[in-house]
Amino acid sequence: EAPVVLAIDGPAAAGKGTLARGMAERLGLAYLDTGLLYRATGMAVRRAGGDPDDPAAAEQAARALRPSDLAAPDLRGEAAGDAASRVASMEPVRAALLDFQRSFAHAPPDGAPGAVLDGRDIGTVVCPDADVKLFVTASPETRARRRFMELRERGQDVIESRVLQDMKERDARDSSRGIAPLVAADDAVVLDTSDLDRDGALAASLALVAACP
Ligand code: C5P
Repeated sequence: EAPVVLAIDGPAAAGKGTLARGMAERLGLAYLDTGLLYRATGMAVRRAGGDPDDPAAAEQAARALRPSDLAAPDLRGEAAGDAASRVASMEPVRAALLDFQRSFAHAPPDGAPGAVLDGRDIGTVVCPDADVKLFVTASPETRARRRFMELRERGQDVIESRVLQDMKERDARDSSRGIAPLVAADDAVVLDTSDLDRDGALAASLALVAACP
């Protein structure tokens, strides 16, 4: 039997990572945070002293990426998010990362019966045949507020208006790029989490999966 694939896309800090992880746990599926691939690629370029906007450096880093690179400690910060969205606009980078994502979906690790992948283009490009597609979103203000609280909890010194501005810039870059832009697949269910807490979002999503043929 083909593995079950759940595709979860949406903008930064909409709650898709928490949701995807929760669904994977509840349904006994493997989980892949595909943003980490782009973050690790961008940071590999930076660490080597390169510029994430340099296509040759970015492609080389994407091709050289190893699963162990996804555990680097600095991948969750804003610098990594920024570098990620720069390398992510380059076609050769996306092509180099595609195989890893598809293999994960079609042959999930540890014999799991399926996989949950979250990102920007899972339902549109990586797994267009996914069994369930969710597009998780929330207003920019809600997302900036969440990201701000998260960063502050981690002890980072941040200003909320700056977080909102950075978030809008990253949204614009992700949505307007020519390749694999951030957009809901035609057959995705849109879930707005502005007024949902994490349990509410998880319950709504599990109900959708249960209603699936
Ligand atoms: O989801 P996360 O914030 O970790 O993603 C970081 C960046 O990686 C995004 O802003 C986006 O540019 C890029 N990305 C992407 N496609 C994915 C996942 C992430 O382009 N499937």
